[in-house]
Amino acid sequence: MKILLLITTLTIFLFSNSAEDTFEKKCSTCHKGYIAQSQLIKNYEQNNSLFKLKAPTLTELSFALRDQIGDRMGDKESQLMEIEDFLKNYLSDPNKKRSILSKSVTRHFETMPKMKGKLKDEEIEALASYMFDYSEEMIAKHSVKRYSYEDALKKAKAEDKIVLIEGYIIFCRGCMMMDREVFVEDVVKEALDKDFVFVKENMLKEKLPFGMKSMGTPSFYFITNDGKKVIDKIQGMGTVDEFLELLDEIKSALKKGEFVIDKS
Ligand code: HEC
Repeated sequence: MKILLLITTLTIFLFSNSAEDTFEKKCSTCHKGYIAQSQLIKNYEQNNSLFKLKAPTLTELSFALRDQIGDRMGDKESQLMEIEDFLKNYLSDPNKKRSILSKSVTRHFETMPKMKGKLKDEEIEALASYMFDYSEEMIAKHSVKRYSYEDALKKAKAEDKIVLIEGYIIFCRGCMMMDREVFVEDVVKEALDKDFVFVKENMLKEKLPFGMKSMGTPSFYFITNDGKKVIDKIQGMGTVDEFLELLDEIKSALKKGEFVIDKS
């Protein structure tokens, strides 16, 4: 039993490792890893002159596979199978007509060269899983740090900061956009780190403090560090600049002592 377990863990380990290796050897000469969305947008606006990419980044491919192939709201295994099929087809016969990327991206690139016969089916299957997970890993790695509400209150009190709860549900488009394009940006992380402590709550599982009702997702609830007042609550998504502006407004509302809920 123990040996069997060891072998299974070892194969999973070797397998996931080898998908990364395969990508490194056969794909990464053209597909770079993670570049923040704001930088990519600039790059494409300036006709790819900033990074001179040979192909879309792995993160862009990962987002497109997640969003465009199979049922993203269904179970992961069946979506992965559809992604495997798509990859097998696309790699053996790339054709921009079947592209899952937006035209604003693909117009900067030639069609990908055929890779027919260069990859075994098992390699493509492992690649599918690796590519699927890649964007989530990158977001987790680059994103602002999150705390539980209890820990956030303690930290905010000790450091004289404001608690910010984001209400989200999985598969909410606006929440995904905030994760992919806003919370990974250095300027946003710096602004949040300086004056806020960030909490992320799944509105299907957790309750907001003060018996507040979720206003839909994504939504943002700014709470004083005594845990007694709500400075403001806002629903909707926004750009990096809009979000930074919102943070400034919250700070000045706190200075003026303006609250939407006061239980003190
Ligand atoms: C010689 C450069 C090159 C190599 C090597 C390469 N690609 Fe690409 N790939 C591209 C370019 C350019 C595009 C964008 C144009 C297109 O979609 O065909 C692309 C697009 C893609 C797409 C998106 C297809 C779509 O919907 O438009 C996927 C998925 C992909 N590549 C996977 C891979 C994988 C997996 C490997 C390694 C096994 C790989 N590529 C190796 C150049 C390359």
